[in-house]
Amino acid sequence: MCGIIGYIGSRSCLDIVFDGLKRLEYRGYDSAGIAVLHDRHISITKEAGKIDNLKPFLSQLPAAAQIGIGHTRWATHGTPTKENAHPHISDRLALIHNGIIENYRELKQELQDKGVTFRSETDTEVIAHLLGQELKGGTHPQEALMRVIQRLEGAFSLALITDQDDQHIYLAKQGSPLVIGLGQNENFFGSDITAFVSYTQKAVFLHDGECASVGRNEVKLWNREGQELPLKTTVLQWSPGSADKQGYRHYMLKEIHEQPRVISKTTQAFAPEGVLNHEALGLNSIQLEKVKSIHIVACGTAYYAGMVAKYFMEPALGLPVNVELASEFRYRDPLLMGQGQTLVMAISQSGETADTLASLKLAKDKGCQIFSICNVAYSSIHRESHGSILMHAGPEIGVASTKAFTSQVLCAYFWSMAAAEKLGRLSAKDKEARLQELKSLPLYMDQALNAEEHIAELANSLYEYPNFLFVGRGPNFIIALEGALKLKEISYIHAEGYAAGELKHGPIALIDKHMPIVAIAPHDAYYEKTLSNIEEIRAREGFVIGIGDEKDSRLRDLSQLYIPTPKMNNPYFQAILATVAVQFLAYYIAIKRGTDVDQPRNLAKSVTVE
Ligand code: G6P
Repeated sequence: MCGIIGYIGSRSCLDIVFDGLKRLEYRGYDSAGIAVLHDRHISITKEAGKIDNLKPFLSQLPAAAQIGIGHTRWATHGTPTKENAHPHISDRLALIHNGIIENYRELKQELQDKGVTFRSETDTEVIAHLLGQELKGGTHPQEALMRVIQRLEGAFSLALITDQDDQHIYLAKQGSPLVIGLGQNENFFGSDITAFVSYTQKAVFLHDGECASVGRNEVKLWNREGQELPLKTTVLQWSPGSADKQGYRHYMLKEIHEQPRVISKTTQAFAPEGVLNHEALGLNSIQLEKVKSIHIVACGTAYYAGMVAKYFMEPALGLPVNVELASEFRYRDPLLMGQGQTLVMAISQSGETADTLASLKLAKDKGCQIFSICNVAYSSIHRESHGSILMHAGPEIGVASTKAFTSQVLCAYFWSMAAAEKLGRLSAKDKEARLQELKSLPLYMDQALNAEEHIAELANSLYEYPNFLFVGRGPNFIIALEGALKLKEISYIHAEGYAAGELKHGPIALIDKHMPIVAIAPHDAYYEKTLSNIEEIRAREGFVIGIGDEKDSRLRDLSQLYIPTPKMNNPYFQAILATVAVQFLAYYIAIKRGTDVDQPRNLAKSVTVE
């Protein structure tokens, strides 16, 4: 969601900025733009749609320009048009912005009353004009930025170039991420390190309320009060990892197939040779003995990973575990125990989700211990946490999360085992049995992937239905929620996930022969109960697509279509196998419907505004 990249140095900036935009593409966007400063003149190009739409116009920008800023926009205020795309301009400046200005209406009115004409419908343009007015009055850009950000309510990371100063780019941060990359006679900045990590591994992370001036050879940082701050440099130990499609038609398909490897790597990292690695699981950075309750906060698929975790974490630790949507948690005044007695655990693939980050900050302010499971090192959530686990999923590019979900569930599972061990609640025998089964999970996962062709075939008879229900019990209730989410996200079919036991309390009214119901019912402790629910569905002529054990004839007989999964004893690992089936189902239905699987409409990979 909205990506920022910038460069100042002694090379031509065009390729660097364009390349940076491509690297930020994964965040999700609907328009893009670039502004460069050359010979005290600002030139801009911007277009709706894909970044590549800028390509034909790059030649109109001065090739020798060495100062440039670029932006990918995900529309919040105003439709995704060329006019609304960033950079926005005012007198002698160009500005890019990630975030939302909540008081933009009042500010816009004030500016319009002074005779300012607006070219776009965005909240960002008010910042450009406020800055423009300051610069027109002769205020130094640094001072102008300081004054203007004091008037802004909401979240922002901003980058400003002006023809009044051809030696600097000016930045400000509040709420949205911004990081500077330090090079030799050149400097970079971006919404995240992927924008520039191929050029430099030295980074300065901006904190809320900080502004910066970035020159070719120097970077200055100051706080809200105008005091200059020392630069805290982080040397990044990070390689971007493999992020190409490796012959697969889509990133999503590649990422589904990567899951067995992700599981093996996770097991190697957290339990090499059968010993749980408490350090890698972040347990040495928190005071577990103080903890009386756990809150898991997350959004989207990560929230569902948290919901699965609740099922195993609560009995393993003997502690209450609440799982909450971060967007609700942060605004509802939750009951949190200070002095580290509540542990708030964030689960986030990107580590940048605005609501999840805000929830962690709130919990930190209230004296909770905060912990995170993230896939992206150096992300805001990872840096904010007292203790953390870094997932071993590798870059996830498809907007619809697949391997990150599996990895999050597994990381939480390892953490839960190690925490139980630390609390003296895990016997050696139990640990061994679980680790043994974990070792064989990648093999079972490979077998689950073999169902691909069969599921692709089934999609041919399913893709035209306008509605779907997904049902299950226990951890498979959560997989039903995740399956419905996947289908919605990439095929745009309306789908709902339900606990099978809840059918009678509403959704059963929807059931007739036109309603496909994906019923997940492996042979676990919930099996008989779920089967009764499926009987009830059949009695109302519902169209059942069963997901269950290979050898289960009862579920197979009850289902019009059937997806077999290999059998494992551990119900959580079994649920992970069922996840593969719902991922493929969503994928192949989306393929039949011809949607943009990796970048579905309106969605963003990294949701950096609330
Ligand atoms: C967006 C993505 C989802 C993701 C969710 C949470 O909605 O499209 O795939 O599950 O954000 O993101 P996070 O990075 O915090 O896991």
